[in-house]
Amino acid sequence: MKIARVTLSDRASAGIYEDRSGPEIERVWAEHGGEAAEWVRVLIADECAEIESTLRKLCDDERCDLVLTTGGTGPAPRDVTPEATRAVLDREMPGFGEIMRVKSFAKVPTAILSRATAGTRGRTLLINLPGNPRAIGECLPLLLPAIRETLRHLRGE
Ligand code: MTE
Repeated sequence: MKIARVTLSDRASAGIYEDRSGPEIERVWAEHGGEAAEWVRVLIADECAEIESTLRKLCDDERCDLVLTTGGTGPAPRDVTPEATRAVLDREMPGFGEIMRVKSFAKVPTAILSRATAGTRGRTLLINLPGNPRAIGECLPLLLPAIRETLRHLRGE
């Protein structure tokens, strides 16, 4: 199992603050019984073309099973993660974003601000997570059963 965790943040990539969301993905994954994985760690700015080329490389060259992004899903002008993700997907799987918004909205009314999406490129599953480190713990555990099932389908099992 090879997983990429990709933090999209102008400020964290410029060193203005520490990236806490990327490491949080690995922590939450392990805490909730995620499979042992080889992790590819990426931190880049909110630049659509760079995000797209990074995602393509992680799928096509690195052959990651799963790519989890964090950040850049909101409505601010620099938030372009869903657009960059959609540009590289073969097939969109909107259910991942929908369930994150529905389940989180009950606790955090601003969850509706996240435009996160997901989908497949070849045999890779890509999922956007919101950028707030707390949101990772609120969203990723909910998705684990569906992530496992999608990966089984992608492998043709
Ligand atoms: N979802 C959960 N579960 N918890 C949160 O704190 N923050 C929201 C939303 N989704 C949040 C959440 C907020 S305030 C924003 S602006 C959007 O995610 C987008 O965040 P991003 O641009 O950092 O991805």
